[in-house]
Amino acid sequence: MSEKTAVYPGFFDPVTNGHLSIISRGLHVFDNLIVAILNNPHKTPLFSVEERIKMIKQSIKGKPQIEVDTFDGLLVDYAVKRNSNVILRGLRALSDFEYEFQMALMNRKLNRYVQSIFLMTDYKWFYTSSTIIKEAASFGGDVSGLVPKVVNEKLKEKFQQLKKT
Ligand code: PNS
Repeated sequence: MSEKTAVYPGFFDPVTNGHLSIISRGLHVFDNLIVAILNNPHKTPLFSVEERIKMIKQSIKGKPQIEVDTFDGLLVDYAVKRNSNVILRGLRALSDFEYEFQMALMNRKLNRYVQSIFLMTDYKWFYTSSTIIKEAASFGGDVSGLVPKVVNEKLKEKFQQLKKT
């Protein structure tokens, strides 16, 4: 049987424990995962693409089944380019549903061969997101336990740097 690879896309600005939970659970379903960071020139992220790649790599500790890559343009085109027909997404509380539904339907319209597969986020990460974590960290809030150690340190560093500028 040939190996099955799923693309797990997102901004990952920064990667959270919720993302890592989906990654490790995804590996129970798929042989390989490509964590695909959208390189969007219209959005101003807190962390550069290079910083985000590094934090993800450090957090997954060199598991050979996981590749970290970047993409731009359409996600379905990227999946095809990488010989995958699966987009893996995590689903949190109700608020995610409409956005994910829209995105999955659009992706399906763009390419019927690519399937969107959802894993329900572990209850521990139901109400966390990169955005809310950045907001809390920007005011000095303690976000340890919600992000990997390396990300927690980077967040502190980044907001200290920004305060100085
Ligand atoms: O981290 P996010 O915000 O949940 O990630 C969203 C992402 C990157 C998966 C989505 O914006 C995306 O796939 N963008 C690529 C452009 C695209 O293919 N758009 C058409 C489908 S809506």
